[in-house]
Formats: sequence, C-alpha cells, structure tokens
Amino acid sequence: MFSQKEGILTVENVPVTEIVSEVGTPVYITSKAQLESNIRAYREAFPNAGILYAVKANNNIALMKIISAQGFGADVFSDGELYLALLAGFRRDKILYNGNSKSIREIEMGIETGVKFSVDSIDELRLISEAAVESGEEVEIAFRVNPDVDPKTHPKIATGLRESKFGIPHGLAADAYKLALKLDGVVPAGIHCHIGSQILSLSPFVHALNKVMDIAVEIEKEGVELEFVDLGGGLGIDYEGKGAPTPSDFAEAILPEFEKRRAELKSDPQLWLEPGRSIVGNTTVLITRVNAVKKGFKHFVAVDAGFNLLIRPAMYNAFHRVAVANKMENRAEETYTIVGPICESGDVLARDRKLPKVEMGDLIAIFDTGAYGFVMSSQYNGRPRCAEVLVSGDRWWVIRERESYGDLIAKQKIPEWLL
Ligand code: LLP
Repeated sequence: MFSQKEGILTVENVPVTEIVSEVGTPVYITSKAQLESNIRAYREAFPNAGILYAVKANNNIALMKIISAQGFGADVFSDGELYLALLAGFRRDKILYNGNSKSIREIEMGIETGVKFSVDSIDELRLISEAAVESGEEVEIAFRVNPDVDPKTHPKIATGLRESKFGIPHGLAADAYKLALKLDGVVPAGIHCHIGSQILSLSPFVHALNKVMDIAVEIEKEGVELEFVDLGGGLGIDYEGKGAPTPSDFAEAILPEFEKRRAELKSDPQLWLEPGRSIVGNTTVLITRVNAVKKGFKHFVAVDAGFNLLIRPAMYNAFHRVAVANKMENRAEETYTIVGPICESGDVLARDRKLPKVEMGDLIAIFDTGAYGFVMSSQYNGRPRCAEVLVSGDRWWVIRERESYGDLIAKQKIPEWLL
C-alpha cells in the first residue's frame, strides 16, 4: 500500500506530493486498503471471536466507521470514547466500557447506552450496582483482572504487572465475583484482562489466558455464567522491520489453549480480543516538511511535526521508520537526526538515520503512525493540530481538517474585566 513512483512515496495510487500540494504539511495519510487488510487478517484468524477495536489507538470517525462496518465491537476507555464509538456505529452488545477511574456521570452514561462494563475496583462495582438499581436496569459486567504477567514490552505500556494500577489482583478476583453475584443491578457475565501493548512474544498472552481461565473455573463454581473471556489487546507490530507475530500466529498460539481450557467450563464463553495498534498502526504515514538542515554535534533535520503530533518517540523512545518521501530512489548517504519544532530537547522523532541527502523543503515520511499518533497530539507551543487524509485507490479525502489559530482559543473565555 506504501510504495513509490518516480522517486515519490505513494499511498495506494496517490503520490504524497499531490496531497501535500493541496493540504499542506504536516499531514497524517491513511491507506484504506491497508486498514481493510488488517481487519480481514483478524476476521480470518479469529472467525468465532468477538473483536473489539480499541478506540484509544485512533478515534477518527471515518476510520472507525470502516472498522465498525465489519461487525467489530469496541473497547472504550472514557465517556468521550463511548460517544465516538456509538457515533461510528459499533455494535452495542460488543462495546466494553473499560477504565480504572470512572466517574458516576460516566457510569450513568454507560448504563443509559446499554453497554457492558469492565469493572476495575470494588468501589466501582458498588457505584454501578447503585446506579443500575436506580435506573431499573441490569448491567452485564466483567472484572478487569490483573494477572501479574510480564509482557516483555516498554515499562510504560505494561499493564498486567503486579505493580500496575489496572485491575483487581488475580488472587482477589474470585471474591469480587462473589460480591457481584450478591449485588442487585449487576450481572457478572465476563472476565477481562489486558497485559500491555506492543507485545512481540506470544507466550505472555498464553500465560495470562491460563491465569484468567483458572479464575473462570473457580467463579463458575460460585454460580457465574460466563458469556465472554476478554484477553484484551496488545499484539505488537513490526516497527523496525525485524518481524512481528501476525493475527494468525496469535490465533495459533492462543486458540488451542482457549479451547482446551473452555472444555473445563460448563458455560461456553466467547473469546474476545481488543486490538488497537495491530488494526491501525501500519495504515498511516505522517508527512512532515523540512524547515532546516544543520550540522552541529549531530546532523539535524528540523521538520514541521514534533512531539505535539507524534509523541511516541519522546515518550517511549519508540522507533518509527523514516524516509525522504520525495527522494525515494536516492541512495542513503548521510546520517541524520530528525527533530521537531517544539521548544524542548526531547523533541526528537528519529535518531541517527541513514537517508539520502536532505535539503530544505524535502518531505520526511514517518511510517506506522496510525496507532497512538494523532490521538495523542496536543497544541503545545501554540501549534494547531494537523490534517488527516484517507486514501483509497486513486482517490483521497480530508478526514480531519487542519486546525486554525481560532482552535487555539476554542473554549477559552476572557473575563469581562479583561476585555
Ligand atoms: N484494551 C485495553 C484495556 C487497553 O488498555 C489497550 C491499550 C488496548 C486494549 C489496545 O492495545 P493495543 O492492541 O493497541 O496494544 N500509547 C501507547 C500504547 C498505550 C496502550 C494503552 N492500552 C503507545 O503509543 O505505544
């Protein structure tokens, strides 16, 4: 889906220069065909599972509509994500409202919209029960269980370690279910865990699955009827060109184990997964223009996108492949460090990369930026957010307009005495 023609990077059949000449830079450009291929890979690998797209990875409505049209559910982590998921048309019976700190208002919204909850604490369980009783509803819940499994990923995105803030320690989970069985308004219907993100080794998933299934066996004896076992998201993608497991490898690793363990149960729960990155990550490229090239301690290339638009390198030391989008056929001859325009030394997008000779005005492509890219952007340093574009074949559409200066003060108010 990302190729080149006469030295210009193309997304499907569209040269990025065509988009840039109309929309400007920076701009995130997404390939619809790549997105559909990723969706298909999950569908084929897990024909019987419930796939809940993790909205946090990329909540652009156009992209979410493409995903929801394939019958996916959604993992939402806030009232805002719930609002967006409903707007995008995700199946309500497969929307799971996650979150470790839900306000009563958020809980009421979840109950009103009829979605299921992943409950993170006993306090939250009691709140949901009270609110459900008050509104005369019954809410299906799962507990987010902390399985204490090391996903061998960046510490900031490991979520199922004992010390992580998420979930109920696995040793206390059975008691939580017993309490839920006693409370009105809540029906324990599932069990949920999520061990982390950008996971490249499959054994931690199998490990977590087994820990969760041990609890499933235990709580069934107490009278819980399980409709779903949700293993969360986390499958990594190939940022560095060193390979990554595919959804089909993932299925091969966990499905036999899931079937084996399910046979121990009386109920027949469906396996649920919550992929985010592996659905949208490799669909998108961020195109940014070179404002200056200078030689100092390093050979710096200063571009017009920084951690305001792509925070992953600064926040997790994440690696993203880069290329000179208008010199795709030129030989790599210089080592450059690509930096953004933000007033912080941490604003480095890529370190020490061998690229063709870069000059002012060139376009730098930063690949695999569809997940946790635009969604984590900010207006820091007074920079309006950039545009997003969707490409399909020869055609393309702006799916988010570039913000204006007016957007920098949207919602701000000046007290009368300052006017
Ligand atoms: N389910 C839950 C409960 C989650 O917390 C997450 C991600 C997912 C599913 C989706 O995980 P995925 O399939 O995308 O790995 N900003 C970080 C990643 C944070 C992930 C947070 N939770 C990054 O840019 O690497």
